[in-house]
Amino acid sequence: MFADTKDILVNAQRGKYGAAAFNVYSLETVQAAIKVAEMENQPVIIALGERYFPTVDVEGFSAMVRAMAEKASIPVSLHLDHAYEKESIIRAIRCGFSSVMFDGSAYDLEQNMRLTKEIVDIAHMAGVSVEAEIGSLARGAFSDEEEGNGTLTDPTSAKEFVAETGVDFLAAAIGTVHGMYKGEPKIDLDLLERIRQVVDVPLVLHGGSGTPDEIVRQAIQSGICKINVNTEVSMAAVSHLQTYFETREMVHLSTVMADMQQSMEPVMTKFIKLFSGK
Ligand code: 13P
Repeated sequence: MFADTKDILVNAQRGKYGAAAFNVYSLETVQAAIKVAEMENQPVIIALGERYFPTVDVEGFSAMVRAMAEKASIPVSLHLDHAYEKESIIRAIRCGFSSVMFDGSAYDLEQNMRLTKEIVDIAHMAGVSVEAEIGSLARGAFSDEEEGNGTLTDPTSAKEFVAETGVDFLAAAIGTVHGMYKGEPKIDLDLLERIRQVVDVPLVLHGGSGTPDEIVRQAIQSGICKINVNTEVSMAAVSHLQTYFETREMVHLSTVMADMQQSMEPVMTKFIKLFSGK
């Protein structure tokens, strides 16, 4: 069924598990995410980043995801990931996204609060929930996200930010990166615990790819309810496609697409199992 991201996260918060938010860009990525979530009987968040707006028909995509969600046996929500422009957020709200992320992490705290509050007011009028971020993630290897400066979230600012903006969930920067880690991951779980003590809303962990399983498990115990995954799924599909083309003489696009979907499913399943505690 088509679901509200907030409901998925509130349930995850109560049940102390994590909901997977997979970044998607095509029919196959959406099909893979919904299929594995149904097989594992877990909710799933379909996340489309603003950065893919130039190549994706957003209204058509939303209608497609909503139709597929309605048929699904598990809750499926549609989330706008990392949006920097108010216009993109309004566009996503208009065409039926369940939640939006306004990323004002590049601004100072005051301005991030002011801009986020403006988005929260608009989104809440339409019944759409909002994620925001303070602190920011650095970019690791193989990611196509924006380069952040890797500033960790300050708990006092997080408390003020949530109280002032009325945001529904908060992305906390605790040392994960977008993409694969270039060295040893340095993830500050004590910091997450301190943020959790002063913030009630569900917390979001960006940069699921490459993050050690044990860290993910502990982060979920310390209040992370949604974990974003992009790079590892992309890497699995890209490496599969490379071998695919190298080892075949004749390829037809229809089979390439079907095979590409299959190559993403085991990675998505691995994450869903990990996040659900199975
Ligand atoms: P990864 O690419 O590291 O999985 O991170 C995805 C993400 O956080 C998208 O918002």
